[in-house]
Amino acid sequence: WYQTVRDIRGMPWRQPYDPNLGPEERAQRAYEVWISEIMLQQTQVTTVIPYYNRWMQRFPTIRDLAGATIDEVNSLWKGLGYYSRASRLLAGAQKAVKDHDGRLPDNAKDMEANIPGIGRYSAGAICSIAYGEKVPVLDGNVHRLLSRFLALHAPPKAKPTLDILWAAAQTMVEIEARHPGDINQALIELGSTVCKVRQPNCQECPLRTRCAAYQQSKGVDEQSLDTL
Ligand code: ADE
Repeated sequence: WYQTVRDIRGMPWRQPYDPNLGPEERAQRAYEVWISEIMLQQTQVTTVIPYYNRWMQRFPTIRDLAGATIDEVNSLWKGLGYYSRASRLLAGAQKAVKDHDGRLPDNAKDMEANIPGIGRYSAGAICSIAYGEKVPVLDGNVHRLLSRFLALHAPPKAKPTLDILWAAAQTMVEIEARHPGDINQALIELGSTVCKVRQPNCQECPLRTRCAAYQQSKGVDEQSLDTL
């Protein structure tokens, strides 16, 4: 199902996964995905693309970033908003250079534990996409998609709900024998472009036939999907 949404679609941070890359090249991919994921946290893809390209020209490697001043970083961030994201990128790069030989750690657990500004979502995204690690992502979009897919009808922020959703997201990367980064990016994109907050476009959803919320609401009340 994820084939339909895993196209590169002009996103410069999307490169086909290559399991044969050496450690240095893998770490470089992780740096690129890290920058893109932090930029994408509160900003749309089309807005991020030129910012990402300018950033990579100015800071092609994590060492270039670590050597920058906060003013330089902020000036490249100008217009993206939520400037704390930029200062956390700088702090993360400096930590990686100081304590990790200029590389992001090579797995999600260590990355989340050691790099400031990288939480469970970012570590999952970076490590699945850049390293092919079978780790899940759960952002707002994937949360909504999986809640509907399972017809959870549970308080969205409660710990048991989050536990179930993280487990469901883990299952998605486990049961599909393909590249975990493709699965995760497909989930993120389906959540943001098809399984939208209002008026989800169920007719175009490749998961429709397996979606519990769709099965429950089909032909009865399409709008009830809005309130899940
Ligand atoms: N939003 C957050 N991460 C993304 C990704 N990897 N591709 C597209 N949109 C995203």
